[in-house]
Amino acid sequence: MKIGIDKIGFNTSSYYLDLTDLANARGVDPNKYLIGIGQEKQAVVLPTQDIVTMGTMAADQMLTDADRQTITTVIVATESGIDNSKASAIYVKTLLGLGDFVRTIEFKEACYAGTAAIQAAKGLVSANPEEHVLVIAADIARYGLNTPGEVTQGGGAVAMLVTANPRILSIEGPSVPITRDVMDFWRPLGKTEAIVDGKYSTNVYIEMFLEAFKRYQELTDDDLTDFTALAFHLPFTKMGKKALEALLGDEDSLIAEKLRAQLTASQILNRKVGNLYTGSLYLSLISLLINGELAAGEKIGLFSYGSGAEGEFYTVTLQAGFETAFDKDLIESNLETRTKISVAEYEAIFNSQLGMNSEDIELNLDNDISKFRLTGIQNQKRIYTKK
Ligand code: CAA
Repeated sequence: MKIGIDKIGFNTSSYYLDLTDLANARGVDPNKYLIGIGQEKQAVVLPTQDIVTMGTMAADQMLTDADRQTITTVIVATESGIDNSKASAIYVKTLLGLGDFVRTIEFKEACYAGTAAIQAAKGLVSANPEEHVLVIAADIARYGLNTPGEVTQGGGAVAMLVTANPRILSIEGPSVPITRDVMDFWRPLGKTEAIVDGKYSTNVYIEMFLEAFKRYQELTDDDLTDFTALAFHLPFTKMGKKALEALLGDEDSLIAEKLRAQLTASQILNRKVGNLYTGSLYLSLISLLINGELAAGEKIGLFSYGSGAEGEFYTVTLQAGFETAFDKDLIESNLETRTKISVAEYEAIFNSQLGMNSEDIELNLDNDISKFRLTGIQNQKRIYTKK
């Protein structure tokens, strides 16, 4: 039985910051951000949006009424949890209008948890083919104003429906998880911004990718020609280039050139959104599905990475008709119709995000046109509405 991703959807903020504006405001050469980091725009998330609202919207856009009747499990993978106890998946379940006979949980391990959720979903479907598992990978990446990480912020959510006989891609072959206990990026309880040892984190990422890929090759005898593309977790798009080049060295064979071109295709959407932690690999996958040179039956290698640190290399196979099994036009038009804001507006929004211990508050919804919104906190309970 084939198991994999049957549907995929994406949602992000309707506001963005142009990183040339940010470079000018910070006194940096814009090419450092555009070329050195590989980012062009950054999603700026209003205080009335969070992982629940963005994740729900990503799912709502792709689910039919029939899907809502058959979903058995909702897993939200996130680094930006909104409660230390209650799973954000419960709020999502309510906003999506799912019935009560459903399992709802939250997964955490920095940017890696989306892949843990996909693998768990595969296991559930493998045990019972009737399972339809909704996986949501949603985050808001925050490093702080005027920090080296500022240019690598972003936010958004990818929703994926994992089922038997999937229409987009099947998850096949061995997967190689890899864990090392390192402090490259972490966020102590109560803090809204991550602490990061940036250069170290990029080195650990590359080392763990090379190690996982080598192990995968030992298990399978696959070589580069077995892949039509490799897609990566993209905290910033240059990271994928660093990882691919570390693997290819100075190889200029046809397959090396093809993998480089496919990587560029997989970076297009991420360049415009920024980091979405758990969702970044899957946004890159969407970007590849839209912009890559792909055919049914071909194999894509995926490298997932979460600081702390955990990685996983696994492979997926494209299914016949994959191109029409998701709403490419909606994903692209949602990005194109976003509103650009100034650096001053971005800074004001950044500073108005609710803290980890926010007092009761009623939020101003004037600038938020989204279908799902956080209206405030009452008696320490988050209140969500659906338009
Ligand atoms: N034109 C073109 N390129 C330029 C340039 C210019 N004018 N000026 C500088 N550059 C290049 C530099 O040469 C450098 O390129 P290389 O990395 O290829 O050497 C690049 O721009 C970045 O410049 P710096 O080396 O000066 O780096 P920085 O001090 O600005 O910090 C960073 C970069 C470490 C990535 C920082 O943004 C950061 O800490 N980000 C957050 C951490 C992160 O994303 N880590 C990734 C791995 S961890 C992970 O994946 C999990 C996760 O999501 C967080």
